[in-house]
Amino acid sequence: MDEIATITIDGKSYNFETFVGTEGERCIDIQHLRDVTGCITLDPGFGSTGSCLSNITFVDGANGILRYRGYPIEELAERASFVEVAYLILYGELPNRTQLLNFRNQIRVHAPIHTNLEHHFSGLPHTAPPMAILSAMLNLVSCFHPEVLEVPTTGEEFGQTASLLLSKVRTVAAFAYRTASGKPINQPNPNLTYCGNFLHMMFSDPYVEYKVSPIIDKAINLFLILHADHEQNCSTTTVRVVGSSRANLFSSVAAGVSALMGPLHGGANVAVIEMLQDIKRSGKPLQYYIDRAKDKKDEFRLMGFGHRVYKNFDPRARILKKHVDEVLGALNLKDELLDIAKELEEHTLKDQYFIERNLYPNVDFYSGLLLRVIGIPLNMYTVLFAIGRMPGWISHWKEMHDHQQRISRPRQIYTGPILRHFQQISDRL
Ligand code: SDX
Repeated sequence: MDEIATITIDGKSYNFETFVGTEGERCIDIQHLRDVTGCITLDPGFGSTGSCLSNITFVDGANGILRYRGYPIEELAERASFVEVAYLILYGELPNRTQLLNFRNQIRVHAPIHTNLEHHFSGLPHTAPPMAILSAMLNLVSCFHPEVLEVPTTGEEFGQTASLLLSKVRTVAAFAYRTASGKPINQPNPNLTYCGNFLHMMFSDPYVEYKVSPIIDKAINLFLILHADHEQNCSTTTVRVVGSSRANLFSSVAAGVSALMGPLHGGANVAVIEMLQDIKRSGKPLQYYIDRAKDKKDEFRLMGFGHRVYKNFDPRARILKKHVDEVLGALNLKDELLDIAKELEEHTLKDQYFIERNLYPNVDFYSGLLLRVIGIPLNMYTVLFAIGRMPGWISHWKEMHDHQQRISRPRQIYTGPILRHFQQISDRL
């Protein structure tokens, strides 16, 4: 522990220890604030509240830095595979050749799902949102694996469970898409890569084997790496909170999927495309949308802009923007929505409203454009975000248990009616 922080309440001073993390972030340890002062802190949205100490991911919002276990996102995005990054996030170190081979095999063998589970897909309406299916099915997967209900957070059993989840989330996602599209499901092909197998399960047809293009395989890999973790975001905090009650890993990540679905979080990648399509369709000038985004009376926001932590650029957005251009070039394609997105970014960079509020493109602004270019259907964008975030969710769930964190139970300040007594209906006005 480092410096002391002093809080004075009603003329009485109270000292609290501070703590400095390995990257120089500072906090005041107020775990005993209520015990000694009778007060609690108030921080709706937790903008100034740390929920834990964590060794997994470091985000420096002021300088646009993102590192998984100390490795810069730029290096991992350029040189690693998603399976390597998943291993790094789960175990804290990059795998050696043998470890990677074993990890890949574990994921490979867990790809199929129980045939009884397959039947659930056929009972769903074609309009069922794949994210809703994913959340429900992740809970159901655990019913076919009773051994994972009491998941230890260490050793071989944890590794098997983590690999099982990483593998099956991909199968369930593809099955959800095929079901929602009224198409027959494709069984996983053990001879394909993690991403190649997903693309096969998504797009192969009984009479036409989907040929995985290296450009698309690389684009999916990159997308998943960029989404693999992001410290205490809304869905990861949800996983930790649910897991803190000792709910099993599957129920905890299923809750994470539900939190991710919202348009302010993972659902933003869909909302960005819908916004760009509206802009294109309307033919209105970009300034019309920028003015609406600035108008407090208008609930319209520029989706894909702003971030709770990044008050400078989101490094993921930069990587994605560059990669979308590369993929379009390689496929010799153009995308009008990308042109609109770039122009929108240019406008905001010069607009005081966005400059004063540090509103820059976040990961979701260009990620949907990458998925669109490689042919992923719009209703699967947030599902891919969930597949990418799975290593982060699992690792945070494990870390919360390893640190023996207490059940999450915040306090509140009550502002409702004071004591009053029940009246018979005959006495009520
Ligand atoms: C993700 O947390 C993570 O790490 C998340 C994530 C991850 O990897 O897990 O990075 C993934 O969820 C990225 C964010 C995707 N969401 C969107 O793109 C939705 C659009 N963005 C906003 O709704 C908003 O910026 C949030 C939700 C991202 C952040 O919300 P905050 O931190 O609560 O910010 P705020 O709403 O308090 O906004 C501060 C100011 C306000 O103006 P004032 O009241 O100060 O005048 O900025 C304005 C807001 O009105 N503002 C916007 C805006 N975002 C914020 N104005 C117009 N358009 C926007 N997009």
